[in-house]
Amino acid sequence: MNATTTLPTVTDTLGREMRDLRISVTDRCNFRCPYCMPAEVFGARYAFLPKPEILSFEEIERLTRLFVDLGVRKLRLTGGEPLLRADLAALIKMLTRIDGVEDIALTTNGYLLPRHAIALHAAGLDRVTVSLDSLDDDVFKRMNGREISVEPVLEGIRAAEAAGFDQIKINCVVQRGVNDQAVAQLARHFKGTGHIVRFIEYMDVGNLNHWVLSEVVPAREIVARVNDVAPIEPAAPNYRGEVASRYRYADGSGEIGVISSVSQPFCGDCTRARLSTDGHLLTCLFAAGGTDLKTPLRAGAGDDELRALIHSVWTARTDRYSEERANLIDESGHPHSGPKVEMYQIGG
Ligand code: GTP
Ligand code: 5AD
Ligand code: SF4
Ligand code: SF4
Repeated sequence: MNATTTLPTVTDTLGREMRDLRISVTDRCNFRCPYCMPAEVFGARYAFLPKPEILSFEEIERLTRLFVDLGVRKLRLTGGEPLLRADLAALIKMLTRIDGVEDIALTTNGYLLPRHAIALHAAGLDRVTVSLDSLDDDVFKRMNGREISVEPVLEGIRAAEAAGFDQIKINCVVQRGVNDQAVAQLARHFKGTGHIVRFIEYMDVGNLNHWVLSEVVPAREIVARVNDVAPIEPAAPNYRGEVASRYRYADGSGEIGVISSVSQPFCGDCTRARLSTDGHLLTCLFAAGGTDLKTPLRAGAGDDELRALIHSVWTARTDRYSEERANLIDESGHPHSGPKVEMYQIGG
């Protein structure tokens, strides 16, 4: 009997179900985006998680099964850069075998897609999202911290297309004074290709990026900039709680998305749980820390015990950081929040 049919839906203190699981498979990355892993902090001697601390594929699969028992239907693999994890396709194959999983997606910086796209598609990965913050080499090099030009990422997108992925999403974090031109550039470049560019308001994730409100380009400004390229109109969400607000080109040549966690927070519909590389369950992108699932897992806890632990964390969940942020920002535009998990530990 499939436990998903017998267990009640798990809801948190604000009535939000647990529907999505974002799984970080590595804390390493081949880029050094200053807003995530600034090169001056993550240098050659930086100590990333040693292998024994990282969940094995079998451990990820087992935990995912328990999350699915409790209502999760969508999975997203993240990092760091998830394609740095050896044989990721094997994990995907394992995850596709879990009854109840409806969708498996991957968020990647695209650099290694030419090498892996075919195997990922063959393994059963449903969707790919590629991060790309600019089409201008100088700007992009600055934003990836590694002197990598745009072309390899575009090649990654083409490799994903050729492997059979459609409706590829392109994520662009918009940072005022850094990549302002990217909005019009990317809109123009991907209009009519079938791919969906999503512009993301720059967020105060983690503690390292010295985020300040004045660097956020609010959603309405992003929408206006795209509208200057070609007229767009709002479209209905694909599903309740969709992170991106959708807009379609009036001439029918595609759509874009805007993710407005700062100017229009969407915590009220947040159904996302996050599993860090080292096996902690986090209930918010802005959480200080999470609940250790790895230790009980490795100590021999049974499925019932682990499910009960996940259940207890989710039912106690109160997170709504993006809705609270406005009250935490001082006159200089800096948030007065406590320590937060870093983006590279949970992949956004
Ligand atoms: P689909 O709608 O399933 O395609 O995925 P998604 O848009 O949820 O996933 P993706 O990894 O592409 O996320 C896009 C951006 O939204 C990233 O910058 C994430 O950090 C951000 N994001 C995703 N989930 C949340 C969330 O729960 N809260 C906040 N504040 N930002 C989120
Ligand atoms: N604000 C908004 N988006 C961010 N990302 C990483 N750091 C931030 C931030 N501070 C994006 C990445 C990737 C996605 C998972 O999150 O560029 O597209
Ligand atoms: Fe790597 Fe993505 Fe972080 Fe950039 S934002 S350093 S690509 S994990
Ligand atoms: Fe969910 Fe936290 Fe993002 Fe709000 S800030 S949408 S609670 S992850």
